[in-house]
Amino acid sequence: MGVVIRRLKSGDETRAGEVATTFKAAQFPLPRASRFLANPANYLIVAEMAGELAGFVLASRLQRLDREAAQLFVYEIGVTSQYRHGGIGTSLMGYVRELVAEESLLEAFVLADQRNHAAVRLYHSSGGHVEGAGSVLFVYPGHAARTTRRRLRLSRHARVARLRRRSGDY
Ligand SMILES: CC(C)(COP(=O)(O)OP(=O)(O)OC[C@H]1O[C@@H](n2cnc3c(N)ncnc32)[C@H](O)[C@@H]1OP(=O)(O)O)[C@@H](O)C(=O)NCCC(=O)NCCS
Repeated sequence: MGVVIRRLKSGDETRAGEVATTFKAAQFPLPRASRFLANPANYLIVAEMAGELAGFVLASRLQRLDREAAQLFVYEIGVTSQYRHGGIGTSLMGYVRELVAEESLLEAFVLADQRNHAAVRLYHSSGGHVEGAGSVLFVYPGHAARTTRRRLRLSRHARVARLRRRSGDY
């Protein structure tokens, strides 16, 4: 059986929650998932193999001041390790390209870390071209980002301290 690619809609909250737990190790509580799926600017696209979740794309529709046509910012793509290298990433990006045509969007765009060879190869081979090669990403972290980073830092310190204690370092 081949891969099925579809955009999640209201009513698909359970699948959306599964995307969060599988790919982000995060909970996506039902009320939040419902609000997310009801927002037409949010695109949560999944790849399914025999009904099993195999991959996803998260994207957002952006309106512009100077044009009627909107853009699609592809924020993230992922394929479960067991299905990688099987063409699912390509199918997901193919679906994104179809959306651009069907919804008369100006374009879809995605940021890539050049060290991520799989992602870079995927975007090239699915028809993306590089624009603004000299661009740099600036981030202005909000409160939630700061507390998440602090929690990660603290848990890293705690892990190191535990390892040291176990190995008799101190
Ligand atoms: C990037 C990712 C989505 C690719 O998905 P995939 O289903 O394995 O991709 P495909 O099988 O459709 O392969 C697409 C192309 O990438 C190539 N490719 C896949 N994995 C690769 C790897 N590890 N190294 C180099 N090239 C790779 C394939 O050979 C193919 O190239 P081709 O069309 O020229 O033959 C997947 O590796 C993944 O989930 N990675 C972890 C998450 C991630 O890094 N996401 C991107 C940033 S948000």
